[in-house]
Amino acid sequence: MERELALEFVRVTEAAAIAAGRLMGRGQKEAADKAAVDAMRAMLDTVQVRGTVVIGEGEMDEAPMLYIGEKVGGAQYPEVDIAVDPLEGTNLVAKGLPNAIAVLAVAEKGGLLHAPDMYMEKLAVGPEAKGCIDLDAPIAHNLARVAAAKGKKVEDLTVVILDRERHASIIRQVRAAGARIKLITDGDVAPAVATAFGDSGVDVLIGIGGAPEGVLAAAALKCLGGEMQARLMPGNQAEVERAHNMGIKDIGAVLGLNDLVRSNDVIFAATGITDGDLLRGVRYLGAKATTHSIVMRSRTGTIRLVEATHILEKKAFLRRGC
Ligand code: FBP
Repeated sequence: MERELALEFVRVTEAAAIAAGRLMGRGQKEAADKAAVDAMRAMLDTVQVRGTVVIGEGEMDEAPMLYIGEKVGGAQYPEVDIAVDPLEGTNLVAKGLPNAIAVLAVAEKGGLLHAPDMYMEKLAVGPEAKGCIDLDAPIAHNLARVAAAKGKKVEDLTVVILDRERHASIIRQVRAAGARIKLITDGDVAPAVATAFGDSGVDVLIGIGGAPEGVLAAAALKCLGGEMQARLMPGNQAEVERAHNMGIKDIGAVLGLNDLVRSNDVIFAATGITDGDLLRGVRYLGAKATTHSIVMRSRTGTIRLVEATHILEKKAFLRRGC
C-alpha cells in the first residue's frame, strides 16, 4: 500500500468523528451511529483504493451501508480489505462517556481475519509485555509476567475489563492477584490500543467483547509492536456456522496477532469522538471543529498523532445532512 494512504484514511475517521460527536449526550445511539456511518461511507469513496468491507456494520441485508462485502473507492485503484467501526462505543456517545472513537484498519486483500459478529475472548498488552501472555494460562500468571516485563509490581498494573456479569470470575482473579482494575461500560478497542502507550495508564485489556472490535484492536497492536491473543466464542450453532462460512476452521483455536491480522502491511486510523485514554474528543468551536487522531502503518511502525482543525461549512459530508 502507498504510504500516502495513511493520511487519506485518517480523513475518513475524522469525518465520522465530527458527524457523530455532534450528537454526544443526546441518548440517541442509533442516530449517532448513522451519522458516523454516512460520513465515513462518503469519505471512503474519496480514497484511492478499491476496497472491500470485510468487517463492517453487518451483513448486506442488515445494514444499508458499510455492509460486509460492500465495495468502496474506485475500480481503477489497488485492491484492499477494510475493517470499519464508524462509531465504536455507541452508548458512550449517547451518554457522553469517554473512549468513543471512529476507527478503521486497511490491509492488502486477505490480510484481515473476517471476524464474524460474535463474542471473542481477548488479552492485549503493549510492546514491553510482548511474548509474556498466554490466553490459556491463569490470569495471575499472566499478570505476574506482564508486571515483571514492565518492571512494575502486579499491584501497580491497571487492567481494563468491560463491566459485565460474564466477567465476574475474571474480576475476582485480577483482584486476587492484587492488580488495579478499571471497569468500563463499553468500548474495548481504545483501551486495547492504550496498552501500548506507557503514559496512558492502561497495562492490560482482558475479557470478552466483540470479535470485529478484536480485529481492529489487533491491527493497532500490530503497528505498535504489542501483542494480543484471542479466541472466538460463538454463542450458538448458527454462529459456529457463520464462522465456518467466513473461512474460520478451528473455532476454538487461540488466535495470535498474525492470525487476526495476517498482513504485515496494515494501516490503522482512529479519531476520538469523546475524550479518552489516548485521544481527545471532537471540539466544536462555532465555524470550526478540532479532531485528535492516531494513524499508523505496521510496515514502517510510524505512529502519527494528528491534530486537525476543520472548517465545518467546507465539509461536504456535513452539508449532505449526514
Ligand atoms: P457498540 O457496538 O454499541 O459500539 O459497542 C461496542 C462494544 O462496547 C465493544 O467495544 C465491545 O467489544 C462490545 O461492544 C461488547 O459487547 P457487549 O455490550 O455485548 O458486552
